Amino acid sequence: MDRPEIILAPGPTPIPPEVLLAQGSPLVYHRGPGFGNLMRDVTDRLKELYRTDTADVLLMTSSGSGGLESTVQNLFSPGDEVLVPLAGFFSERFKKLAEAFGLTVRTIEYEWGTKVRPDDVAAALAEHPVKAVLLTQSETSTGVIQPIQELARAAREAGALVVVDVVSSLGAVPFEFDEWGIDVAVGGSQKALSASPGIAFVAIGDRAWAASDTATNPRFYFDWRIYKTFADLPNPENPWTPAISVMQGLQAALRLYFQDGVDVALARHRMLSTAVKEGAKALGLDLFGEGLEDNWTVTAIRAPEAADADTISDTIRAVWGCVLAPGQGPLKGKVFRIGHFGYFSELDIIRGLAALEMTLEKLGHPVKRGAAVAAAETVFMGSR
Ligand SMILES: Cc1ncc(COP(=O)(O)O)c(C=O)c1O
Repeated sequence: MDRPEIILAPGPTPIPPEVLLAQGSPLVYHRGPGFGNLMRDVTDRLKELYRTDTADVLLMTSSGSGGLESTVQNLFSPGDEVLVPLAGFFSERFKKLAEAFGLTVRTIEYEWGTKVRPDDVAAALAEHPVKAVLLTQSETSTGVIQPIQELARAAREAGALVVVDVVSSLGAVPFEFDEWGIDVAVGGSQKALSASPGIAFVAIGDRAWAASDTATNPRFYFDWRIYKTFADLPNPENPWTPAISVMQGLQAALRLYFQDGVDVALARHRMLSTAVKEGAKALGLDLFGEGLEDNWTVTAIRAPEAADADTISDTIRAVWGCVLAPGQGPLKGKVFRIGHFGYFSELDIIRGLAALEMTLEKLGHPVKRGAAVAAAETVFMGSR
């Protein structure tokens, strides 16, 4: 019998029925008061999520990468220098994106799975100032949450703009646009908010707007100025035909998210991540990455001797219909990743851990049946 797969990967995340219904309802025409109200509501809630009273939040029809590309186009001119601390797949991709638009990229290189050190950033900037530091809050390839507040402080003190990829972290872990002095932060609809893929949101502060006035990189579809002109209309609009259905779903997703509020959502992410980690440990598995306490979005787990990590993620999907994420880059075959941000409940995690237990047993790893489930239940009962 066909059933939907059980997604326990770090995005796209499972979509709640309310969101599916909203995006399946009749289209709101994209010019006029109906869409204007929709866009205003989505934008206001996103500002609350970013924790900003000062920034503009622009909505673009694209995945998160489009929002990141818009940043490189709008802030910089060819030859501008930026610093990108490299600690995983997505920070490396940010570097490639910057290079594709003619920026000169300086790097600090870390082993994958480590945290970027604010002192290293301060020292690199003291030795060689740059226009901006490009950061990734949740390094989805390793599960590590980077210390953005401290990194932003180091960058600001050196006079650099602070650009943060929050695609896989906004709504899942603490983030404070205004308080931390962030200049640009880019998120996506399909991660912690559990809407469909298709909308990127870009928060832009005053210093970033000033930089964009003098930037000469080519820009058209993602030109922030034209988005702002349309967003400031009495009935806000997108310059181009937007992903209207996704926007309708995103509104429903944000309503659900704010029913409980940000703090409850963050506490849930923390609890679910603890349950996954305790469950994995109870199966004799080793966790990967630094700062596990802070890593509430995705958990990278080292493969045991019995099977490589790709075999585990392939088998659990083939046998149980459960989608985990494989390792990327140098971690391919070595770790598999469980995503636990978005619209997940305790029982979704239990279901995934049960499938993991049976998969590992099948692959010859010694498992005490029910051990991971019991460990997760202990976490959940302790928080009720
Ligand atoms: C940290 C991070 N940045 C950027 C991206 C790219 O986002 P998208 O696939 O929405 O373009 C992802 C996707 O997983 C991500 O996790």
